[in-house]
Amino acid sequence: MLRTLKSAILGGVRLARTRWAVMGKGRFLRHGEHLHVGTNVRLWAPHHLNLGTNVYIGRDSHIECNATIGDHVMIANRVALVGRHDHLFGQIGVPTLFATSVTDPGYPPGLALEEVAVEDDVWIGYGSIVLTGVRIGRGGIVAAGAVVTKDVPPYAIVAGVPARVVGHRHSPEDIPRHEQAIREGHFVFSARGRLFNIVKPGPHRP
Ligand SMILES: CC(C)(COP(=O)(O)OP(=O)(O)OC[C@H]1O[C@@H](n2cnc3c(N)ncnc32)[C@H](O)[C@@H]1OP(=O)(O)O)[C@@H](O)C(=O)NCCC(=O)NCCS
Repeated sequence: MLRTLKSAILGGVRLARTRWAVMGKGRFLRHGEHLHVGTNVRLWAPHHLNLGTNVYIGRDSHIECNATIGDHVMIANRVALVGRHDHLFGQIGVPTLFATSVTDPGYPPGLALEEVAVEDDVWIGYGSIVLTGVRIGRGGIVAAGAVVTKDVPPYAIVAGVPARVVGHRHSPEDIPRHEQAIREGHFVFSARGRLFNIVKPGPHRP
């Protein structure tokens, strides 16, 4: 009883925090249903930040670049998604601190659209950094502490600095079964906490 009450109160706080985090960000932020934004998360983008359905963003994470994030994505605590070319460091005779930056009017429009793309069913581990220009393929995993500078193939596990493939989450034979089960299943991530999640995998799960 006490546990249920505590979960309900904490759930309400979580929900309120997420609503507060997205409030007033309509200029660049679009999101689907069932979003969780943890404590001290910073969400900012020069142009767009599109979040899918069932997205979890852990506490102290910073998304400070354009990003397109798919469905069922888990971003751990202290993750950073940042703009690779936020400051035009190649300008001759100008210290980078004073160089044209992504928030300046003269910043090249093409570069201003660079993004991090995160496909469905991705897990980005604690303390990792992902630079714009990178696509994390469906089902991929970024290990804790990685710095991701290049695309991550679907279902690959990448680790290290710079991140390299260290393994694969599922075998090629298992991937179709996994994806079909997710497509046919019913997954509702609750902004109130894991206790309130709905998890009904499709019939093709072993
Ligand atoms: C990526 C991860 C899931 C892989 O787990 P695993 O399957 O047990 O991986 P393994 O131990 O078999 O690792 C494979 C190789 O990658 C290396 N590796 C694993 N995680 C690493 C990391 N974070 N950084 C650097 N190398 C790593 C291992 O040392 C191993 O190298 P080796 O083959 O030379 O021995 C796990 O290491 C991880 O980082 N999980 C994220 C944890 C997290 O962020 N938790 C927060 C909760 S949301």
